[in-house]
Amino acid sequence: MTNGSPGSGKLTRVRLWDPGIRLFHWALAICVATAWFLGEFGPGIMTLHFYFGYAVIGLLVFRLIWGLVGPWPARFRDFVYSPATFIAYLRGIRARTPSFWAGHNPMGAVSVFALLGVLGLQAYTGLFSDPDDFINKGPLADSVSGSWVNWATGWHNALPPLILLLVLLHVGSIVYYRVWKGEDLVTPMIHGKKTVLGDVPEDRIIETIDGAAETGTRHSDAA
Ligand code: HEM
Ligand code: HEM
Repeated sequence: MTNGSPGSGKLTRVRLWDPGIRLFHWALAICVATAWFLGEFGPGIMTLHFYFGYAVIGLLVFRLIWGLVGPWPARFRDFVYSPATFIAYLRGIRARTPSFWAGHNPMGAVSVFALLGVLGLQAYTGLFSDPDDFINKGPLADSVSGSWVNWATGWHNALPPLILLLVLLHVGSIVYYRVWKGEDLVTPMIHGKKTVLGDVPEDRIIETIDGAAETGTRHSDAA
């Protein structure tokens, strides 16, 4: 029942992403893009920026809880892989076959943790930011020392280009999977269903795809 094992090699149609993760994902994408845009190009007074920033904090708290006690395969432990699995996956990444991975694949998992971590730091430092422009000031800036405020403001100004880069890589990888590997990762993030290879929880299976078991290459098979 784990993502890391090739299991029986059965190809199945499963209910993969639960509604909570799907809603979380698209709400996060909208809130991060809007907060980023308002921060970079918005009006002088950034009240709206703050609201979208608070929404990002709420979503990240939800994701933390879901990562600990949520359903398969959204739990963090479902997408922490061994170095061997990671290397085996990388070896097969150029193959022009879908991965049929049940959950976040090892490459995707790294980008998910990077995105969540950097967004967490961005939103956290926003709370203490104060650029001394007498207009915008994070709600907690007055409760901490000046050096803490400088530290937070420095990071809050420095991280947005990294966020942009991570999001571009994120969307770029999804396009790569679609175009090069012929695997659609986007619609499963919309309706939840995906065709996957390997062992999955029984109650998630919609149908078993007959005779197709040998058509997919699970990269961990190469290990
Ligand atoms: C600011 C924009 C975006 C952010 C911050 C973002 C962030 C994330 C995060 C954190 C995850 C992991 C979901 C989880 O918590 O388990 C994820 C997964 C995913 N995202 Fe995005 N995303 C963004 C935009 C997009 C866009 C525009 C698309 C569509 C092209 C997209 C498609 C996906 C897909 C398909 C997955 C699942 C990948 C897999 O199968 O492993 N994302 N995204
Ligand atoms: C992931 C969420 C967030 C993103 C992507 C984001 C992005 C940005 C960007 C791009 C800027 C402009 C930086 C510059 O001038 O170069 C900015 C400024 C600012 N943000 Fe955010 N922000 C987020 C969350 C927050 C939160 C939660 C707060 C506080 C409630 C906040 C408070 C501020 C303040 C006070 C400024 C002006 C100070 C400064 O320039 O450092 N932000 N933000």
